[in-house]
Amino acid sequence: MKNYENVTIFNHPLIQHKIAMLRSKDTGMKDFRELIEEITALMTFECLKDVPTRQVMVTTPLERTEQTIVIENSVAVIPVLRAGLGMVNGVHMLFPTAKVGHIGMYRDEETLEPKEYYCKLPDGIEDKIAIILDPMLATGGSAVAAIDLLKKQGVSDIRLMNIIAAPVGVETVATAHPDVKVFIACLDRQLNENGYILPGLGDAGDRLFGTK
Ligand code: PRP
Ligand code: URA
Repeated sequence: MKNYENVTIFNHPLIQHKIAMLRSKDTGMKDFRELIEEITALMTFECLKDVPTRQVMVTTPLERTEQTIVIENSVAVIPVLRAGLGMVNGVHMLFPTAKVGHIGMYRDEETLEPKEYYCKLPDGIEDKIAIILDPMLATGGSAVAAIDLLKKQGVSDIRLMNIIAAPVGVETVATAHPDVKVFIACLDRQLNENGYILPGLGDAGDRLFGTK
């Protein structure tokens, strides 16, 4: 896959270790959920390294000092239902005041086209950093549709966080929306004939919520 300026692929050993556990079919629902949250928190550290800040005065036991804090209402997260829900706590661990919007989307099993069924976004989202959360980037159809939707709402700073991605999904998003910063924990090999990522981790929504 070619290099895209706005695509960050982590390849960090601490993240790779957690992804190895996440992939295993022997990892149960509780551990799966916790691993998704932990990986998301590690990714958030990088994704929000340019979050807006302001200066405040703090009094230590010894003196008054000027310090940097984040601007609390500057971030919103938008999990793509269902699997994106599993990533919300991971962002909240580091940025507890992030507002949460929801986009409901599922892939048609035959065509793999995304079908939108729900959308509720926080007021004022157009002025915030909006981070779309979805553990899986397969064909890229769902991510492109979610970004299209946010752009129609007037959001200009859109970021996408995926834990596992297929090369075709990255290429589709980076081509359709070159301005969107994409953060991927791990780039996998390919899709299978049913649109599942290989080696992947299976169906993220089913593994998070125990539906199969
Ligand atoms: C999965 C995943 C993404 C989408 C990725 O959701 O969570 O939203 O597929 O595939 P794409 O890149 O080919 O669009 P799914 O449709 O299985 O819905 P679910 O989370 O409700 O199970
Ligand atoms: N959605 C998933 O949950 N897993 C995949 O491998 C592809 C899409």
